[in-house]
Amino acid sequence: MFRRLKNAHNVADMRLLAKQRLPFPIFHYIDGAADDEVTYRRNTAAFDDCDLVPNVLVGVEKVDMSVTVMGCKLDMPLFCSPTALQRLFHHEGERGLGRAAEKFGTMFGVSSLGTVSVEEMAAMVKTPKMFQLYVHKDRELTNSMIDRAKAAKYDVVALTVDTITGGNRERDLRTGFTSPPKMTPKSAISFAWHWQWTLNYLFRQKFELPQLQGHVKQGTNITISVGEYFSTMLDQSMNWNDVAEVKKRWGGQLCLKGIMSVDDAKKAVDVGATAIMVSNHGGRQLDGSRSPFDQISRIADAVGDKLDVICDGGIRRGTHVLKAIAAGAKACSGGRMYLYSLAAAGQRGVEKALGNMRKEIERDMKLMGVRSVAELNRNHISYRTKN
Ligand code: LAC
Repeated sequence: MFRRLKNAHNVADMRLLAKQRLPFPIFHYIDGAADDEVTYRRNTAAFDDCDLVPNVLVGVEKVDMSVTVMGCKLDMPLFCSPTALQRLFHHEGERGLGRAAEKFGTMFGVSSLGTVSVEEMAAMVKTPKMFQLYVHKDRELTNSMIDRAKAAKYDVVALTVDTITGGNRERDLRTGFTSPPKMTPKSAISFAWHWQWTLNYLFRQKFELPQLQGHVKQGTNITISVGEYFSTMLDQSMNWNDVAEVKKRWGGQLCLKGIMSVDDAKKAVDVGATAIMVSNHGGRQLDGSRSPFDQISRIADAVGDKLDVICDGGIRRGTHVLKAIAAGAKACSGGRMYLYSLAAAGQRGVEKALGNMRKEIERDMKLMGVRSVAELNRNHISYRTKN
């Protein structure tokens, strides 16, 4: 069935559009997760185990959806998590995402494995930006990325802490997905069938990883799977002392992306992080890990008054954002919730996706009887089973 962007009313619709438009190795790289993908499914399903409890008759003709997180004022309580390799999903890549996020006054991230330079994105987009740092074995590279993000005046560094080795992404093993993409006898037909993607890939802006240039050939000149990249290029000795070093060199808002336990959340406070993204990397790393939403209330209870707690992952609906904030998160973020739409239609796609989410959040706040995000609290939710 031919689907159109204007009829894409939710993330599931966008996913189908992306599936239609991408060669299968690229689609399954976005869509897939680790092992049996139990955690990936739970990330969204967890929201169904918690009900919203609305109040009525409060006068909601105007609602204020803005939040302040990591020192940045956002016009909506949902932002776009940093993700890698965006040029592969659509030729507009990070540029399309950044422009769309700017229109909605929300934050987006540029990855160490991003396909546009931190400098170009900073010059292009004036609204808040996050740089996602991967600590490489090559410390010169790691330091150069921190320095570049600082010089380009990024608002936040998000240090990724959950990719110490590659997750077991069996869809990528089956499809042969690598960076840069290579054709296999099996995928060749799909690359030919999706000729628009293939022509855009071959003849538009060259695929590059500008954050890594001059340091690392893997991912550009040497094909490698993402799992193998994590396992061989990133520093497995990384520990809390390294976080302190990153903090010192960076000197600004520091978010730890991939915290799941209360103990680690407390250590994040001790090391001076200003935020944590409670995240399991979209279920792409440790399958069987708890979902961010299942864990959010106990983490918020432990550290919510000392740093900003972000619920990252599984968000597909405005109601999910409201539940996470009522449970104690300051804001939410997600990857696939905009990646499908980026793949479907570049900047236009992301604008449609963020527009859908903003409308849902506004409508749901009105139906919940809350006039500002700060009003959401535990009285607005009820867990079906003991959380
Ligand atoms: C992923 C990394 C690159 O594929 O964020 O999950």
